[in-house]
Amino acid sequence: MPITTCVFDAYGTLFDVTAAARQAATEPEFPLLQDNWATLANHWRLKQLQYTWLRAITDAHCSFWQVTQDGLDWALEATGLAGDPKLRQRLLDLYWELQAYPEVPAMLSALKKAGMNTAILSNGSPDMLDGAVQSAGIGLLLDDVLSVESVGIFKPDSRVYDLVGQRFGCKNDEVLFVSSNGWDAAGAAGYGFTTAWVNRASEPIDRLPWTPQQVLSNLTSIPDLAAK
Ligand code: LAC
Repeated sequence: MPITTCVFDAYGTLFDVTAAARQAATEPEFPLLQDNWATLANHWRLKQLQYTWLRAITDAHCSFWQVTQDGLDWALEATGLAGDPKLRQRLLDLYWELQAYPEVPAMLSALKKAGMNTAILSNGSPDMLDGAVQSAGIGLLLDDVLSVESVGIFKPDSRVYDLVGQRFGCKNDEVLFVSSNGWDAAGAAGYGFTTAWVNRASEPIDRLPWTPQQVLSNLTSIPDLAAK
């Protein structure tokens, strides 16, 4: 079936999650961040994601905002920065105004011109996603922003991927699902979507039973892929 619906993961895929720590590191109030912002950002992201998986398998769901704060607290302690409440608050505030990667507006615009449905499907809470979409100025290029909060469990639970067919009335093989998270692209491939993994950092592929059909270094070729 031709692709009718392009669905994007949010954090790390459309929005640069390392931007919060990178930005705070340039601010004079936080000199201790200059040398280790990348380590902090990496710990923060990994813990945030681990907590989503652990909460999903233990049936202990909470909002993505909660795991975002919990992951940051772990990361701040691990990097010796836990004693600065202003830094914690600044990093959390920045998470609500993450920038989209530079190619995102033109890519979404091309998909809309081609008549595709476009949406975000994210672990993010609706209010967090709204903040990021507004801050990146891409709201008019998306038909919907779907959050796991409506099903109360994180990805890669199949109930999350079910939201796409429920919203757009499309079959799985009409969906191109795009994620920078290898595990999310794998989960969506296992679910039955055509998937593209955006591997900006040239990481090894996740060793999981399912593999994405496409591996890309950024989002620019998505409109071409969707048209095939
Ligand atoms: C999301 C996370 C997984 O947006 O990046 O769902």
